[in-house]
Amino acid sequence: MENIEAIISASLNEVHESRVRDSMLYSLTAGGKRIRPLLLFEVLKGYGKDESIGIPFARAIEMIHTYSLIHDDLPAMDNDDLRRGRPTNHIQFDEATAILAGDGLLTEAFHQISESREPADRVLRCVGILSEMAGPSGMIYGQCLDINESDQDTFEEIRRVHLYKTGCLLSAPLMMGAVLSGQGEEIVNAWHEVGNRIGLAFQIQDDILDVTATAEELGKSNSDSRNHKVTSVSLLGEEKARAMMKELYDESCIRIAGFRGFEASSLISMIRGIEARFR
Ligand code: IPE
Ligand code: IPE
Ligand code: MG
Ligand code: MG
Ligand code: MG
Repeated sequence: MENIEAIISASLNEVHESRVRDSMLYSLTAGGKRIRPLLLFEVLKGYGKDESIGIPFARAIEMIHTYSLIHDDLPAMDNDDLRRGRPTNHIQFDEATAILAGDGLLTEAFHQISESREPADRVLRCVGILSEMAGPSGMIYGQCLDINESDQDTFEEIRRVHLYKTGCLLSAPLMMGAVLSGQGEEIVNAWHEVGNRIGLAFQIQDDILDVTATAEELGKSNSDSRNHKVTSVSLLGEEKARAMMKELYDESCIRIAGFRGFEASSLISMIRGIEARFR
């Protein structure tokens, strides 16, 4: 299989040339850690499948994630000017184009999946998972809670925000990887549980990095305090947040090691790498 950057950057080869395509490519090819597509490939590999069957789904999840970042940075949301080491999409282009780029990435993601030649029932299940995890019962629900401060007074409430705004798009590739490997619903749900834990840990870590790292180090604006965001750090303090993050990553790895017929070592070392990240 080609490397991940080649896979992602070829995603829009068939799309009409236009300002919106330029804007989509600008954000999609700006780098980023590619965690979500890599998680999908790791699940396929762990189940002994040919990773290349995941390509349309890997592209789709990274396109949806990138769209979520473009819209998250808009003036009406977090109002940020740096992302993936570059000016945010609406700064480089303009707000209207950034909105369209997000719309384009979201829609094109499902077009990519339609190109899969895997069994139709599996492809259809993946469409169901991805649309649910990205949509108004998933990431969008989380972003809706995130912008509504009255939903964030306790850690229980912030946990719910994290689970949806971040956990859902991290669960989706794990669940789709399991579906494409022929696993049944019970196992797919167990991967969802793992994704919830990774998602919570990942967002707690993102909140910690927002206060401990510079925008230059992160390649994105660290704007939580400017935006008066309630975060895991503002609610728990850095030390408790760190302890909770570690516990959640540990629990995720223990669960992954317990999946029957799954060679877990490579995915676990990827997760330990995410835990050790500085950006
Ligand atoms: C950023 O996600 C948004 C959060 C869910 C915290 P990533 O940290 O995966 O961003 P990229 O893809 O590497 O830019
Ligand atoms: C990210 O939350 C959630 C989504 C983009 C869906 P943040 O607002 O904390 O993400 P960053 O810090 O801007 O990457
Ligand atoms: Mg945000
Ligand atoms: Mg943000
Ligand atoms: Mg953040």
